[in-house]
Amino acid sequence: MDKFLIKGGKPLCGEVHISGAKNAAVAIIPAALLVEGECVIENIPDISDVDSILSMIQSLGAKVKKLDCNTVSIDATTLTCCTADPELAAKMRASYYLMGALIGRFGEAHVPPPGGCNFGTRPIDQHLKSFESLGCTIELDDTFVNIDAEALCGSDVYFDIVSVGATINAVLAATLAPGKTVLENCAKEPHVVDLANFLNSMGANIRGAGTDVIKINGVESLRGGTYSIIPDQIEAGTYMAAAAATRGDVLIKNIIPKHLDSITAKFVEMGVTVEEYDEEIRVKANDKPLKNIRVKTLPYPGFPTDLQPPMVVLLSTVNGVSVVTEGVWDSRFQYITELEKMGVKVSVNGTVATIEGGNPLKAASVCATDLRAGASMVIAALACNGETEISQLRHIDRGYEHIVDKLKALGADIERING
Ligand code: EPZ
Repeated sequence: MDKFLIKGGKPLCGEVHISGAKNAAVAIIPAALLVEGECVIENIPDISDVDSILSMIQSLGAKVKKLDCNTVSIDATTLTCCTADPELAAKMRASYYLMGALIGRFGEAHVPPPGGCNFGTRPIDQHLKSFESLGCTIELDDTFVNIDAEALCGSDVYFDIVSVGATINAVLAATLAPGKTVLENCAKEPHVVDLANFLNSMGANIRGAGTDVIKINGVESLRGGTYSIIPDQIEAGTYMAAAAATRGDVLIKNIIPKHLDSITAKFVEMGVTVEEYDEEIRVKANDKPLKNIRVKTLPYPGFPTDLQPPMVVLLSTVNGVSVVTEGVWDSRFQYITELEKMGVKVSVNGTVATIEGGNPLKAASVCATDLRAGASMVIAALACNGETEISQLRHIDRGYEHIVDKLKALGADIERING
């Protein structure tokens, strides 16, 4: 089992290039199943979640070619199978996007319930509700969600809660459904917009992505083409947090500053200097003391839940009491127990974490309990003196491209070892 060995205590300084967005890639790759013809997708992050979803569509009969480590060609013209591999599906949450894609393409789908990071109950009732509104019949057995979409047609769907996955799945299902679909109370995340842009560039008719209401006029077919995925908002925010927690000075390149607004606002409130350029952002935290703040995670354009763990570590390095409220997931503070081994002082009450900042962090041996918790442990290790060992890297590998090389280029002392 691989481990990271990190000798921290040095400010990160220099430049880092942000990769394509994981959560856009894992939606756009299944969306390519709706296309008859070759899709060339650029700026795909080289991470294990992408490998998993590519293996899944390959096992359904799509032709997948990696043109280089960030470009993939997908041709699903000859796809014949609408039953997803249960073993592969168990590896990741985004396997649920095969439901929307396959019912749009075949009028039928058999997909196991999804795996992925475990932070409490992760229901998919809103996904299934949208499929039912679009005319599908659904039956669950021991292994599969079985969806009959013979009668698929455009319809109105009102989501009871704002869900990224349900919004994307409904868009996938409705793209080739005859008639007009109106989705209300939609998620507005940049990756929802990126998915709609991808589908529109292949011939779909989707309007309103990025707002509460998405309107889709079903089209008969989609054609192939080339598309480039947006930069990863969460990877960018992770490097922002690492720069600030180590009191460094980092230029974060290949980003869309607008996507980082809620993060930038909180960093500025803490006293971090943030300079925005067209496609870059500079985070400088070495010139004045930082302040404790309150943060609440919310759906976009609110502060992202996926940056809650990095933010908890950053606030642990700041004197005073900070409060972080988790507004998206019921149970996303489980990783705190592991982080306590590194000296963080956090008390959790339901969805509210109270952080007693300014206590020295200490090196320890910890396990990455999930993807973003793993990232927060890397940041804690970079911010404290001594050598930290982080295991269970498979979680971090799911979402951070070339993290060792990127951190080394910023001056970090980090190695990946076997055993
Ligand atoms: C996506 O998960 C992301 N994953 C998550 O990122 C992210 O934390 C989350 O959105 C919120 O931004 C991918 O894009 C693959 P949701 P998703 O449906 O779509 C409840 C990461 O670290 N809900 O927006 O599964 C749910 O329980 C990962 O990159 C229902 O009640 O999240 C949660 O409280 C982790 N019923 C809230 O909605 C449903 O049918 C938001 O979940 C669906 C969701």
